[in-house]
Amino acid sequence: MKKNSVYDCYISPLNKIHNRAGNITIIESGKNIPFSIKRIYYLYDIPSGEARGGHAHKELYQLIVATSGSFNILLDDGFNKKIVTLSRPDYGLMIVPGIWRELYDFSSGAVCLVLASHKYSETDYIRDYENYIEFRK
Ligand code: TYD
Repeated sequence: MKKNSVYDCYISPLNKIHNRAGNITIIESGKNIPFSIKRIYYLYDIPSGEARGGHAHKELYQLIVATSGSFNILLDDGFNKKIVTLSRPDYGLMIVPGIWRELYDFSSGAVCLVLASHKYSETDYIRDYENYIEFRK
């Protein structure tokens, strides 16, 4: 997990079934997401100018989708940084374990859907950037 880099994170095109009544996108473990989904949560009503994240996970895989609106995600592996903009409900960002992330520039009404490979565990978080850099060494 320590060896994962920002280049192991990737934008994953999801499916979209379109008809006159609108669109549907389906995410299924083992089909278009490479882990078994243990937890789903979503961020919403994020005040303008606020940032979320600011941590890394030791074991957790996550697929992040802007189901509404848009936001930016800074990915950082201690050596390289990458900025990704999510703005479409039919694309997801796969974040592998061991990557520091910050979510910011949320548009009004943005909803950030997160599919996660494990249940919530505070011991899986690294919340201090200096500790994170130590962890990566
Ligand atoms: P956190 O993961 O720090 O939020 P973000 O990365 O979006 O800024 O979580 C915020 C709070 O919610 C924190 O007190 C932990 C709690 N929380 C849970 O209890 N269960 C969960 O599944 C998640 C994601 C967070």
